Amino acid sequence: MGFYRKPRDKIAINLRRVLPLVLVILGGVLLLIFLVNTNSDSYTVPWYTDEVFSNLNYSLTISREDLKLPEQNELSISLEKRNWLPPRNLRLFPKLAKDHITIVLYVHNRPQYLRVVIESLSRVKGIEETLLIVSHDGYFEEMNKIVEGVRFCQVKQIFAPYSPHLFPDAFPGVSPGDCQEKDDASKKNCRGNPDQYGNHRSPKIVSLKHHWWWMMNTVWDGLQETREHSGHILFIEEDHFIFPNAYRNIQLLSALKPKKCPDCYAVNLAPSDVKSRGEGWECLIAEKIGNIGYAFNRTVWRKIHSKARGFCFFDEYNWDITMWATVYPSFGNTVYTLRGPRASAAHFGKCGLHQGQGDKGACIDQGAVTIGVEEIDKVPNINSKWDVHVIKHQSGYQAGFKGWGGWGDERDRHLCLDFAQMYHLRKEKSSDLKV
Ligand SMILES: *[C@@H]1O[C@H](CO)[C@@H](O)[C@H](O)[C@H]1NC(C)=O
Ligand SMILES: *[C@@H]1O[C@H](CO)[C@@H](O)[C@H](O)[C@H]1NC(C)=O
Repeated sequence: MGFYRKPRDKIAINLRRVLPLVLVILGGVLLLIFLVNTNSDSYTVPWYTDEVFSNLNYSLTISREDLKLPEQNELSISLEKRNWLPPRNLRLFPKLAKDHITIVLYVHNRPQYLRVVIESLSRVKGIEETLLIVSHDGYFEEMNKIVEGVRFCQVKQIFAPYSPHLFPDAFPGVSPGDCQEKDDASKKNCRGNPDQYGNHRSPKIVSLKHHWWWMMNTVWDGLQETREHSGHILFIEEDHFIFPNAYRNIQLLSALKPKKCPDCYAVNLAPSDVKSRGEGWECLIAEKIGNIGYAFNRTVWRKIHSKARGFCFFDEYNWDITMWATVYPSFGNTVYTLRGPRASAAHFGKCGLHQGQGDKGACIDQGAVTIGVEEIDKVPNINSKWDVHVIKHQSGYQAGFKGWGGWGDERDRHLCLDFAQMYHLRKEKSSDLKV
């Protein structure tokens, strides 16, 4: 006992000596907190100073004057600035692997799902070799917190600055004077163009396609971290459970693609039928591109980008149906993807993307996930000796489908086209700017 008492007495004496200093520091901190609180409104992002931004290449504003992008509010501007911050966790993971496949996770506002996805990603073998980009449609504190907690790889957050969710009273959000539902614009003297079924735009419904298109353009052609990336980029969503072998499998598939399936444009982590976990056959499978865990390279992106007009003017509010019904068919031949016989990602949850939080009739589902991860899902399970089974005639959306509508408003169509152009005007305008 006596052995311990002495040091403890010493600590007590030391404490008495340093107490005044501690109090002074504490006072200073409290004052600082007070000052920060009184200076910031809830929309600015107080923890990044202007100094941080002045050191970044925030040069993209240069080209914006040439487009008629909507006028931004404070929130939109502050979020856009954050897009140019470097990734987090650079100290933990200073280098990306040479042949890494960047992962882009696009999310809206289902935190109970995002937690499950992030947890599943934390168990993915090889994840520490790559960069995870989380693209947000709207700004939601809880979603933000979850992403800020990621420690298993480099992570970068980007926010769609023209998300309808950021504009409470102006386009791309709801603006006063807009037509609603089946209003007759000339009779009601309201603004908007109805879709092919006579319905006017709904900001919540168009936000998804806008986000996807903005994100694609930004990741491939905008961000400093990825605009020169030469490999594949893998895209996943906030309700996709990712198996531990997903990253190694997608690497294997993208390496095998040129030899095994020269006609394939992409590689996929899961079957295009979202309910299927795979056939379990001993072969690779080529089928139509599905929207769970798809990856492709820059050549394919350039091809998609060249069809911007088709994408932006097709009267269909779902990005994936737009791709199947108009963009892919315009490539001229069947657009296949290559995948394994067993899924490395799975869709979960019951709430649709449009069923946000806090709405009337909001979809409540705590994301209780019962996806069984077996031993075979923990190790790469693609065999390079396998042949390819091609699924030729698949049901689903294809050329000729005229769309579900929801995308008739000229403003949406032009905003969409602007997204396709915003990173390209610089090249033509001033050659001294690096692209
Ligand atoms: C900004 O761009 C210039 C010219 O391309 C480059 O020399 C400089 O290193 C960049 N700065 C940062 C912080 O990336
Ligand atoms: C990208 O993928 C396409 C389709 O699989 C392929 O034709 C092309 O050669 C690839 N490009 C590069 C640069 O590897």
